[in-house]
Amino acid sequence: MATAANEIEIILDSPEVKADPYPILHRLRKEDPIHWVPSMQLWLVTRHADIKKLFTDPRVVPDRRAHEFYTPAPEGSYIRWIEESGLFAIPAKEHHRQRRLLASGFTPRGVARMEGQINDVVKRWAEPLKQRTGVVDIMSEFTSPIPNAVISAITGVGAPGNDERRFSLMAQEVVQGFFGFVDDEVKARAERAFLELSSWVRDTIEERRREPKDDLLSDLVNARDGHDRLSDDNIVAQVAALLAAGSETTATGGMIAITTLLEHPEELEKLRADRSLIPQAVDEILRFGFGGVGGMQRFAIEDFEFHGKQIRKGQMLILSLGGASHDAEVYPDPETFDIDRAPKELLTFGVGSHFCLGSNLAKGELKCMIEAALDFLPVGAKVLRDQMEFQSLGIFDRATTCPIDFGPVASGGN
Ligand code: HEM
Repeated sequence: MATAANEIEIILDSPEVKADPYPILHRLRKEDPIHWVPSMQLWLVTRHADIKKLFTDPRVVPDRRAHEFYTPAPEGSYIRWIEESGLFAIPAKEHHRQRRLLASGFTPRGVARMEGQINDVVKRWAEPLKQRTGVVDIMSEFTSPIPNAVISAITGVGAPGNDERRFSLMAQEVVQGFFGFVDDEVKARAERAFLELSSWVRDTIEERRREPKDDLLSDLVNARDGHDRLSDDNIVAQVAALLAAGSETTATGGMIAITTLLEHPEELEKLRADRSLIPQAVDEILRFGFGGVGGMQRFAIEDFEFHGKQIRKGQMLILSLGGASHDAEVYPDPETFDIDRAPKELLTFGVGSHFCLGSNLAKGELKCMIEAALDFLPVGAKVLRDQMEFQSLGIFDRATTCPIDFGPVASGGN
């Protein structure tokens, strides 16, 4: 029998839903938490508890080759290679092996080393912003270059001549190749950029073999697990994976952190008054600002029933991050941004075997970016939302600019 709940049709890419996804997410959670979206041929999952379960359910996988509509990238392309040998594709045992070896670069020593490197990079990009007035695009001038520069500093792989801007540009080109909905020219550019990156990685591997340094690549070259070690191909794939997984997410994250704080001046004031609150503010930003309707993809590898819905092998499920993070069952009064909330059970970094490898690094970067922003953002700076630009990637829009009016006053308010 059709119920009102079954009649909900949501157009995920409609401007209304993109502008404010929470009313429809609340309705779905209440009336139809596992919702079939016919226009996109996918299941939208919106309850925190269900999303948490599905992250570790063996009947669904993140490997997009399991999708009923999967079309392989061209033979020999790097996207094809990553689709077949990346962390989402390899069998569980091999995934476990590679993560264990990769984790050797994320030991407490590695993370401590990263903190200094993050600080150096953020300071370098923040310094010129201290004297700025007028409109500043906070993405191109601050949040976008930082994650790539951090990955370059941490891995030890850089452009020849330590050309940070070249590395950043190349990294952005590589990452664009992973998005669906981009045209052939972008894909071709991504392919060329990846070839350039892999030749830098291979050269650096050779150098580190001869002379190890205090960086992740040296750790990966030397990573041993019994007699096991990562092959050069594994290392190239891993560096590409770190770039793909860690640059766009954290660049957007920095932008979300800054805009969320500017749009909640009382919370921003609390941070200006007491910077020790920054780590807990980061958690609340990860809850409040990351999400929207979209989220992580899973693909069914067998037919199964979930809450009375028949999921068929090959179908796509979207585990809505905004659905999870604004679920009032877990986060009362979810649309209130409250840096004292201390949100528990955040799903923003996933759960289970694919849990974000870079979560601590991402949090460290966000913490550092906020700290620096408190120094360069003048009191009264305003986000010019209506002037932001976006690239449409189907289910979500990716912000490409974020203009902020620093005002005519001298910056550095504190
Ligand atoms: C705010 C920034 C970030 C967010 C929100 C984020 C979120 C996520 C999520 C949700 C997953 C799980 C995906 C799934 O299960 O389908 C994931 C996986 C991953 N993340 Fe992040 N991430 C961020 C930053 C980073 C950074 C900085 C790095 C490293 C430089 C990184 C590296 C990875 C890797 C390698 C995986 C795949 C792990 C695996 O499959 O075993 N991420 N991330």
